[in-house]
Amino acid sequence: MFRSGLRLTRGRGGQNAFSITRIVHLFQNQLILVLCLAEIAFGQIRYSVPEEMKRGSFVGNIAQDLGIDPKRMKSGSARIVSSDSSEYIELHLDKGILVVRERIDREQLCGQTTPCSLSFEVIMSNPMQLHSVVVEILDVNDNAPLFTENEIKLEISESALPGTLFLQESATDPDVGINALQSYSLNPTTHFNIKIQTSPDGSKYVEMFLRAPLDREKEDSLVLTLTAVDGGEPQRSGTVRISILVLDANDNVPVFTQSVYKADVMENAPKGTLVTAVSAADADDGLYGHVTYHFARISSEIVELFALDETNGEITVRGVIDYEKNKHYELSIQAKDQGGHMDSTKLIIDVTDVNDNTPVIALTSFSSPISEDSVSGTTVAIINVKDPDSGINGQIDCSINKHVPFTIKSTLKNYYTLLTEGPLDRERNGEYNITFTAVDKGTPPLSSNKTVTLKISDVNDNAPVFERSFYTARVMENNVPGLSVFSVQARDSDCNQNARISYLVVDSEVGGIPVSSYFSVNSENGVIHALRSFDYEKIKAFQFRVKAQDGGSPPLSSNVTVKIFIQDQNDNAPQILYPVQTTVSAEIVPPSAEVGYLVTKVVAVDVDAGQNAWLSYKLLKATDRALFEVGPQNGEIRTLRQVTDKDAVKQRLTVVVEDNGQPSLSATVNVNVALADSFPEMLSEFSDFTHDKNYNDNLTFYLVMALAVVSFLFISSLVVIISVKIYRWRQSRIFYQSNLPIIPYYPPRYADAGGTGTLQHVYNYEVCRTTDSRKSDCTFMRPCSQSVLMLDPSSTETMQHVQKEEHLLGDSDSSAEVRL
Ligand SMILES: *[C@@H]1O[C@H](CO)[C@@H](O)[C@H](O)[C@H]1NC(C)=O
Ligand SMILES: *[C@@H]1O[C@H](CO)[C@@H](O)[C@H](O)[C@H]1NC(C)=O
Repeated sequence: MFRSGLRLTRGRGGQNAFSITRIVHLFQNQLILVLCLAEIAFGQIRYSVPEEMKRGSFVGNIAQDLGIDPKRMKSGSARIVSSDSSEYIELHLDKGILVVRERIDREQLCGQTTPCSLSFEVIMSNPMQLHSVVVEILDVNDNAPLFTENEIKLEISESALPGTLFLQESATDPDVGINALQSYSLNPTTHFNIKIQTSPDGSKYVEMFLRAPLDREKEDSLVLTLTAVDGGEPQRSGTVRISILVLDANDNVPVFTQSVYKADVMENAPKGTLVTAVSAADADDGLYGHVTYHFARISSEIVELFALDETNGEITVRGVIDYEKNKHYELSIQAKDQGGHMDSTKLIIDVTDVNDNTPVIALTSFSSPISEDSVSGTTVAIINVKDPDSGINGQIDCSINKHVPFTIKSTLKNYYTLLTEGPLDRERNGEYNITFTAVDKGTPPLSSNKTVTLKISDVNDNAPVFERSFYTARVMENNVPGLSVFSVQARDSDCNQNARISYLVVDSEVGGIPVSSYFSVNSENGVIHALRSFDYEKIKAFQFRVKAQDGGSPPLSSNVTVKIFIQDQNDNAPQILYPVQTTVSAEIVPPSAEVGYLVTKVVAVDVDAGQNAWLSYKLLKATDRALFEVGPQNGEIRTLRQVTDKDAVKQRLTVVVEDNGQPSLSATVNVNVALADSFPEMLSEFSDFTHDKNYNDNLTFYLVMALAVVSFLFISSLVVIISVKIYRWRQSRIFYQSNLPIIPYYPPRYADAGGTGTLQHVYNYEVCRTTDSRKSDCTFMRPCSQSVLMLDPSSTETMQHVQKEEHLLGDSDSSAEVRL
């Protein structure tokens, strides 16, 4: 009971032809099944309807196709029995047709399953009838192929090899059959191409591979469009944008812009000073194009001096660059990219000299002191100057300070000789500070100084000079021997031994006696001592020379005239020359003599000088004082009045003659005057009293003589006895005692036997002269009379001035003192 329930689906418009072919096709496939169903369960009706039909769209006239009256369907309450399909398909009982109840999306309903159909039963009662209906949902190309992403980003190295696969991509199209995804295409295909592959589940995917090599340096990015198309009508497509970033490959090496770089740097350039910059280019991008700079094969010295900036290739100063250490540096520099490629270059740095070194002065030889008699041109010192700078910075001018008698000469390069120029005189300049100045020719110039002190040594070129051109002094006669009269003083402008002066008396004679026996000079201090007591009446002045001699070799000396005047003392009494005392005589005054008659003249002399010899006369005693007068100045005795008869014939006058010294000395003389006309008658008278006196004198004399003789005899015998006693006692002792008794020795005496007899004391002197005149040229005199001169070394106060002088001279040899 086959029912051809098939009916042409009444599609809309142009879809009908397509629907028919499909239905036929489906029919053939399932014919057997349909037949079976129709037989057993009342038959089956198949419809097909495209998806996406509007609500109410006609699906199939089931009443007609089943051959049932629509009324029967209504009365039989035909209805669709289905678990799921009832929502999509609705049964119109009135017309007995099936319509779309709800929009049907095949892709939602069945996915990729084909064919997609809805199966349900239409059931009727009275009598009960069950009809199976299958509504096949036909696919409509309502979906375009769709890629999962809109854009795919790829990063591909430019070094990628052609043929390398980069992408597997697929698009999906939920439609089925011809409406499903059919093909892919790529645009452009300059570098890439695609292959369409089918996966085991039948879906098509695409593989994109590199067709031609990339070059980032030409084109660093690509945009491709991959299009997927289905086979529907109209055809639908989907695209994806493929952005390709061409990644750099390290296919370029860094290249320095120069194979050799040259730069100059000033020495002592401050840290951080830019010397130069090297630069290398690398066409690569990113790390492969990122060039860093490094020193290669570098010494530690260069590391200390220069810094290289890794990133920009700048070479800066890091340490102290010293031209004097190194004038030239060669640095090897490498440029590296981060992919291991490198290039190297050479940097030559020339250091420019800066005048940074002061000249150095070194004293190579120096002779100090030099003698003041050095001839002009004598070499004093040799100096060496150095300046490590180069060029004019190292050229040195050397000079010395002005106003010194020295000059400087360059002998060798950088060697200078200091020479004397002109005479030297230690007495004017005992030392010189000589300053050497070395100046280089740099800008600004640098200089240094060195001062040496040159001492001038003494030469005995100055004789002693006395303070005065001559000396005069006065000494009172009757001085004590050893008296220091005065001192001479000489100076010597040399120094030390050359200035050590000793004094001595230049010997000459005064009246046949050497002057050295009158005077001595202390060789140390020039004090002149009188060796004797002088007598003005014998010598009134001395003139001699004192020599001052220095201790140089040979010694120099000079002499000075010393004049010593002896000053008079009133040590001589007047001497009366007339009238002579020994003869008895008388002056005759005739009675007729007038008033003022010159009786006689007392004549006296005084060997002293000056006031001491200025005499005055006075009448001391007279028989008649009214009769005579004495001229006080001239000693003339004259009558004062007329002689009368009452006057005694014998007149006796005593005249005193006084000098004017302090104290004054005097002498007296007796003058006999006879007031008579003739002499003889008077003579006896005068001789009487002279005789009387003589007699008395004689008697006394004899008595004294007798007494003396007796005394002498007595003492003589006494002396003899004692002498004998002593002699015997000594003889007994001499055998066991060696020291002999000191027998006083009196050397030969010099007795002042001056005829005047005017010395108040008579001295006998021993003249003791030491042979070493330096130690003591002073002569002491010891009077032979027992008590007068004492040597008293312990007494200090009396001649302290002597000691002081000796102390100053540092010589205490002759501290013996003289005391009278
Ligand atoms: C030389 O220099 C020294 C020390 O500076 C100084 O004491 C002395 O007086 C100077 N001498 C001369 C002659 O200028
Ligand atoms: C003393 O000095 C003079 C020059 O002043 C000289 O002619 C004379 O020889 C000197 N006399 C002695 C003894 O040295």
